[in-house]
Amino acid sequence: MSENKKEIVLSGIRATGNLHLGNYYGALRKFVAVQDDYDCNFFIADLHALTTNPDPAQLHANVKNIIAEYLAAGLDPEKVTLFVQSDVPEVSEMYLLLNMHVGIGELMRTVSFKDKARKALGLSAEAAEDDAAFEHQLVGADNGKRVNAGLLTYPTLMAVDILIQKATKVPVGKDQLQHLELTRRFARRFNSFYGVDIFPEPYDFDFGGAPVKVPGLDGSGKMGKSEGNCIYLVDDPKVLRKKVMRAVTDEGPKEPNSPMSEPIANLFTLLELTSTPDVVAHFREAYADCSIRYGDLKKQLAEDILAVTTPIRERVNDIMADEAYIARILRDGSERARERAAHTLEEVRQAMGIRRF
Ligand code: TYM
Repeated sequence: MSENKKEIVLSGIRATGNLHLGNYYGALRKFVAVQDDYDCNFFIADLHALTTNPDPAQLHANVKNIIAEYLAAGLDPEKVTLFVQSDVPEVSEMYLLLNMHVGIGELMRTVSFKDKARKALGLSAEAAEDDAAFEHQLVGADNGKRVNAGLLTYPTLMAVDILIQKATKVPVGKDQLQHLELTRRFARRFNSFYGVDIFPEPYDFDFGGAPVKVPGLDGSGKMGKSEGNCIYLVDDPKVLRKKVMRAVTDEGPKEPNSPMSEPIANLFTLLELTSTPDVVAHFREAYADCSIRYGDLKKQLAEDILAVTTPIRERVNDIMADEAYIARILRDGSERARERAAHTLEEVRQAMGIRRF
């Protein structure tokens, strides 16, 4: 057994739809890579998905999709603990308790909250940057455009997911780093307020590389479900090729060694993730000497993405068909996750003075 086996790794993905390349390179691929060497715990964040009020039948279907995609991507339930967040009710209780130590202001300042609230309120990015106007809209929002309290306290729940398992290594994409920073702050605050040493501080885990941000193919920003620009692991090859061929480009370099526009830089980021170094070098040279044909680059990119996604897509359906297998894995996983969670929760209750008579 490896020396690292004692270090606790934990991460989750929201149950909001099928997994896309951002989830794969930001998270899932790393989950698979570390499963042999650490005490790994991966879950499906169905409670976090509630912050955007999903359709109940769809939420349940999404949980099943994601567990099937976890397994199809190579997670081995013999090696890792796999569970659904809501199957560990200790998380919900600790979420209530930890919220008593979290400031509304620090939650309101998180980038993810601002971003999601802005969308819910129908505000432009500039309007959301004007703090006074943003807060005015937020407080005055009527039911049609309500921003729910769960969205605000999203980072508390994420911190609890991590702290309740005492995880120290958290493989996530770049967009989650601020949440991890908050988690460390909450851990320190709790430990020092009660004079205890319950929580270790968790850090992102990229084994060597930097945390990635997988871009979309629509020219700017990251790949994300709410951005509507995703390449899904289960996309059929025809659909996938079409998505890549439709990627936004520019008119092409006019002079040797021109700087790259954002859409082209994004295509190269994807190529770097999915292709071999010699393929990337070939297209970089072609860009530098102005001989590049974006159509060729896209064709190559589509095939290289398919080489990654096809084996996963092919396994998903078989796994989905075996409900009993999925149920057994989740039952075993949640039992293990609950054991550690119950222990931490008891420490937290004791520290806070919530004691039984
Ligand atoms: P979620 O569901 O938004 O995303 C799941 C994981 O995928 C990564 N990711 C990306 N990485 C790179 N480029 C992208 N375009 C991209 N899009 C998504 C995310 O960084 C994430 O790692 N709050 C988390 C879920 C969560 C969690 C936790 C994670 C809940 N509790 C505890 C770690 C530990 C989230 O919303 O992920």
